[in-house]
Amino acid sequence: MVATKLIDGKARAALLCAKIAAAAKALNTRSGIIPRLSVILVGDDPASEVYVRSKGKATIEAGLQSVEHKLPASTSEADLLALIARLNADEAVDGILVQLPLPKAIDPQRVIEAIDPAKDVDGFHPQNVGKLWGGRKALIPCTPFGCVLLLRDVVPNLAGAEAVILGRSNIVGKPMAALLLAENCTVTLVHSRSRDAASLARRGDILVVAVGKPELVRGSWIKPGAVVIDVGINRMPLPDGKSRLVGDVAFAEAQGIAGAITPVPGGVGPITIACLLRNTLIAACRRRGLPEPEL
Ligand SMILES: NC(=O)c1ccc[n+]([C@@H]2O[C@H](COP(=O)([O-])OP(=O)(O)OC[C@H]3O[C@@H](n4cnc5c(N)ncnc54)[C@H](OP(=O)(O)O)[C@@H]3O)[C@@H](O)[C@H]2O)c1
Repeated sequence: MVATKLIDGKARAALLCAKIAAAAKALNTRSGIIPRLSVILVGDDPASEVYVRSKGKATIEAGLQSVEHKLPASTSEADLLALIARLNADEAVDGILVQLPLPKAIDPQRVIEAIDPAKDVDGFHPQNVGKLWGGRKALIPCTPFGCVLLLRDVVPNLAGAEAVILGRSNIVGKPMAALLLAENCTVTLVHSRSRDAASLARRGDILVVAVGKPELVRGSWIKPGAVVIDVGINRMPLPDGKSRLVGDVAFAEAQGIAGAITPVPGGVGPITIACLLRNTLIAACRRRGLPEPEL
């Protein structure tokens, strides 16, 4: 039985946001620039609306500019691409984020590929994906980069660690694999066709879970002492009509087994938003050939 440490993503995010705010202030004093993030929301998915609101609030609190483009669900792909072209051409815009998922009639890949890679603060454009895997300077997807920041606090030297990632999405699992490889971990990617996910998971000194299945990972899936990062956000209905958020890991069962674990909420979510602001500031500096702050 180990004492399981709680990884406080909220506190870590507050620390990073304070650094971003200081760097943004210094940039403004030096160059008169206020980095601008443009967020596009198509349709009225309630979860997406909450995410966009939180992103906008955090952006302004850090001293950056936030502009929201709210489009109806009936928006055509052509109209969305035209808006992206306008934002690409607008010198004042540093970051463009299209909130996913998009309505079914719009091809998300075509939309991602239309964003100027220098303004692609989500890091999903194929140019940024290729640079990340090639070990070159890229805009890095926010959630997996946030997970690395949380991991580095608990495991200062990740080299040689067995890292197991559950989930292979383009948004989380795959970039997570690239980042942990870059940290010199031995990486295993587990997906829905993997044989015996539980025993693969149990190999991990580091276990990152991004499957979108409430409490899929039981206590018995966790290697004693492992550091567990729970990316999952699942809304579970309660009998009173309300709902509560749970992760992809059975949090209570992990107590006494995991060496450290992120809670849901309050773990990966807040650090993801902080990393979006970090990318916006970095994009603003990189585009203008200005020195990048150490964040
Ligand atoms: N905290 C944050 O800021 C943040 C950000 C992004 C996502 N999330 C959350 O993270 C979760 C995952 O998101 P996502 O976008 O990566 O999801 P996704 O695109 O649905 O991908 C899920 C992945 O999990 C794999 N999977 C499904 N069932 C599995 C099983 N039984 N065993 C092993 N692998 C399994 C799938 O395998 P296949 O490829 O074989 O189908 C797929 O690769 C969701 O709950 C999402 O809400 C949170």
